[in-house]
Amino acid sequence: MGDSPAEQHKHEDAEDVVELILRDHRTMEDLFREMRSVDADREAALHRLADLLIAHAEAEEAEVYPVLRRYRQVDEEDVEHSVEEHTEGNEALLALLEAGAPGGEDWDEKLEALVQAVNHHLDEEERSLINDTRENVGSGRRAELGRAFARARRDQLASAPGRLENVRRIVKEAAGPSGS
Ligand SMILES: [Fe+2]
Ligand SMILES: [Fe+2]
Repeated sequence: MGDSPAEQHKHEDAEDVVELILRDHRTMEDLFREMRSVDADREAALHRLADLLIAHAEAEEAEVYPVLRRYRQVDEEDVEHSVEEHTEGNEALLALLEAGAPGGEDWDEKLEALVQAVNHHLDEEERSLINDTRENVGSGRRAELGRAFARARRDQLASAPGRLENVRRIVKEAAGPSGS
């Protein structure tokens, strides 16, 4: 698939963190549609989704959420809840990566669990944190945040973050030292 040159150009130009985040959310939805299609290369779509899901969430947590926490108008609990939802998404991704070949019964079931977890998060994030950003963060700061987000996301993507061992590590670390 891949972006057309015009789309790529647009992507590089866009700096507003809200726009960049929403663009990734729509790409995730497109990839879910592909993963559900028996005509598509579902394995390839899964690997693209895995890389994007991890890179996106890690970049949000590294560069966007810490800044939002400092805004009085942003509910600290919304930020914390979003981080928890990233963990739920990562756990569902890990289960799918471990579910064997695409199209099997287990795979389909784990795919639907992942789609549900991630769609729920995208929806909630857009209604809470993204709207808070629109309302409270000025365009200059949003561009600055967008550049930081894009840089962190790019660095993540360069390391193929959706690899099984890396997803395992992230899930394990989120469980904490006392976690299983
Ligand atoms: Fe997001
Ligand atoms: Fe998120």
